Amino acid sequence: MSDEASAVQSFALDGEDLAFEPGETILQAATRAHRYIPHLCWHPEFPAHGSCRVCSVKVNGRAGAACTVRAAAGLDVESNTEELNAHRKTLLQMLFVEGNHFCPSCEKSGNCLLQATAYEMGMEGPHFEEFYPDRPVDASHPDILLDFNRCILCELCVRASRDVDGKNVFAIGGHGIGTHLLVNSESGRLADTAMDLSDRAASICPVGVILPKRRGFAIPIGQRRFDEKSVSQQVEEDGS
Ligand code: SF4
Ligand code: FES
Repeated sequence: MSDEASAVQSFALDGEDLAFEPGETILQAATRAHRYIPHLCWHPEFPAHGSCRVCSVKVNGRAGAACTVRAAAGLDVESNTEELNAHRKTLLQMLFVEGNHFCPSCEKSGNCLLQATAYEMGMEGPHFEEFYPDRPVDASHPDILLDFNRCILCELCVRASRDVDGKNVFAIGGHGIGTHLLVNSESGRLADTAMDLSDRAASICPVGVILPKRRGFAIPIGQRRFDEKSVSQQVEEDGS
């Protein structure tokens, strides 16, 4: 192999060199190198979805989503800037007001990527007027509770159920502000699907929509994943 072919390729992330492997996106390369770029709808087990835009970065001065833009030699990527973090905070505030998020009473508090990312971006309040949408809970399944109030439409459960579990339990319906998560059964109830607690879809939700029944608060608030370390520390110290 020539020296040129074997040379490690790299780009700059916030002014520091970051090596990447061919085919990696900016977010994949950054995460592998324990560098934190805020994100919500990206999960290392699934192809990028590119919908939340929380991973927005500037690539050679132009806006792009770090989870979908491929790393390339010599790129100049800005991520941790005042402007981009303010943009991310606005996106997070919009997500908070579009749903019903009451962190102090949520079983997912301390394990929730939305909450952890909001802390990371210094979000102290919703800023916008709350929509308070009417989203009933589905408690029909014997082992799983669905609280649609917290859905951020990342589609991870849709993808996990379809691509890993082979069941297609979830779908996204509606348009614009009316976009919502659906259960794919004639009744629309989870009890009438093949969903099982051992499904990948049952444990993929980054917020508190899909929850196992009878396990509430098994780990006390204050001792949970993001209580112990912030989301950036998780990536920087543990790589995930
Ligand atoms: Fe994402 Fe959870 Fe909503 Fe599914 S239920 S789309 S995993 S936030
Ligand atoms: Fe990239 Fe959501 S993480 S768009």
